[in-house]
Amino acid sequence: MKGRKVKILSMCYDDVEDVIEIERKIFPAPWTADVFEEQLNQSDCTSYFVAKIDEKIVGYAGIIFPPVGRYGAGAEGHVTNIAVDENCRRRKIGSLLLLKLIEEAQNRGSRVISLELRKSNMAALNFYKKFGFRIFGLRKNYYSDTGEDAVVMFVDNVSFADYQNRLQIIRDSIGFGEV
Ligand SMILES: CC(C)(COP(=O)(O)OP(=O)(O)OC[C@H]1O[C@@H](n2cnc3c(N)ncnc32)[C@H](O)[C@@H]1OP(=O)(O)O)[C@@H](O)C(=O)NCCC(=O)NCCS
Repeated sequence: MKGRKVKILSMCYDDVEDVIEIERKIFPAPWTADVFEEQLNQSDCTSYFVAKIDEKIVGYAGIIFPPVGRYGAGAEGHVTNIAVDENCRRRKIGSLLLLKLIEEAQNRGSRVISLELRKSNMAALNFYKKFGFRIFGLRKNYYSDTGEDAVVMFVDNVSFADYQNRLQIIRDSIGFGEV
């Protein structure tokens, strides 16, 4: 699949079956189809996307904009999940998905984007750091399946020029989405 164009599209109900197939392979406590459908039902405060090569889903990502939050209504976007099929990693598909989530947060007027990840997930930690996410703290025993701690990360300046420049450098390094 090298040198192929990746499309980032809004997730629709018909995508859910393929999405949960990837989800089940990756996460120890995978979301079910019902959970994804519930998120899609709440599109006034959520945005979900899939990455497709040809017509095949190779990744997906979502963000939620809590109506009530620390920073006021809609001011915070919280990344709920982002995943790329194991056979397609390190080809910037995750980056294209995260760029889309950040763009969506900006369009909805959010200043802050937050997320959690497992403390042992070094790939994701590096990935988010590349996008300027900083570690805010730990949530002890956050994951009920293993008792692992969650690392809480955030960016608080998504509309600032410095941050926009950082994103532009990432976009330029990807080119036209051919991965
Ligand atoms: C995290 C994840 C989404 C990244 O997707 P990806 O398409 O492989 O990432 P990209 O190719 O866009 O990587 C962008 C940058 O992130 C960092 N990165 C990504 N994977 C990495 C790894 N395994 N080790 C170290 N750094 C990594 C690198 O800086 C990379 O840039 P580079 O390739 O130029 O060095 C993917 O590894 C994944 O699906 N993991 C399982 C699910 C998960 O952990 N999700 C996040 C927590 S919910």
